[in-house]
Amino acid sequence: MDIVKTRKDLDERLSALRNASKSVGFVPTMGALHEGHLSLIRQARRESDIVVVSVFVNPTQFNDRKDLERYPRNLDEDIALLNTVSCDLLFAPSVEEVYPEPDTREFDFGQLDKVMEGAHRPGHFNGVAQVICRLFDMIGPDKAFFGQKDFQQLVIVRDLVRQLGLGTEIVACPIVREPDGLAMSSRNRLLTEKQRKSAPLIAQTLLESCNFVENNTVRETIDLVKGMVDKSDDFKLEYFQIVDGNTLQPVDNWQESNYIVGCIAVYVGEVRLIDNVVYKFVK
Ligand code: PAF
Repeated sequence: MDIVKTRKDLDERLSALRNASKSVGFVPTMGALHEGHLSLIRQARRESDIVVVSVFVNPTQFNDRKDLERYPRNLDEDIALLNTVSCDLLFAPSVEEVYPEPDTREFDFGQLDKVMEGAHRPGHFNGVAQVICRLFDMIGPDKAFFGQKDFQQLVIVRDLVRQLGLGTEIVACPIVREPDGLAMSSRNRLLTEKQRKSAPLIAQTLLESCNFVENNTVRETIDLVKGMVDKSDDFKLEYFQIVDGNTLQPVDNWQESNYIVGCIAVYVGEVRLIDNVVYKFVK
């Protein structure tokens, strides 16, 4: 695996690796890599000739300074993990390399970023869009791989690619879970031992709600999930919403859409975790 930190070195490496017939698969990350990221990289490997991974903690997508400072960073550990999978090129730039001057670009995602993460983390998706544009511009991927855990991000990145007419195909990859159900996340390593023991309740609640939906209304399902999460002193529910998987707008009943997803954000102590479950998907 080649490791590059500057745009100039990236260009050189990419042109050496790429020839007219080779496809580039790209996995953008903020580091603190885990099995979830590795599954994206394996998927990229299956679908591309060259696999590029970026590790960059993007400051413009953090609306909370403390959250940015606390975000786990360990490039040596990331490199060791990347060496266990088949990654051709790691791009680990500095902030100055990605943003030689401040990015003032404003995106319009209509209602997509007015709900859930977007409502609770103002400016977050604008920052994600800024960095994705810059990284895609530098790397020129044929395909880019995103985890379904960040469900709203996936929908918004797809919209970004559509709006800008970018040639990159966005590939969604399933959530990877710990054996106890907890969705893998770089933030999990910030949990205390006690919090780590309670955290799987989030996934267990979503799983239980899947069995519940068949005979109950959307409202009753929301109440069930809220009730289960509220029972634990370790948790503070930020939101649980049942939404249309394309528009991200709340649905009132199960007939309203063919694609229905339940999305949750919970504070476990100071650590904010998100997860989601697909209740209905009819092609
Ligand atoms: O999902 C993430 O880790 C980040 O939002 C991403 C896509 C790497 C952009 O910084």
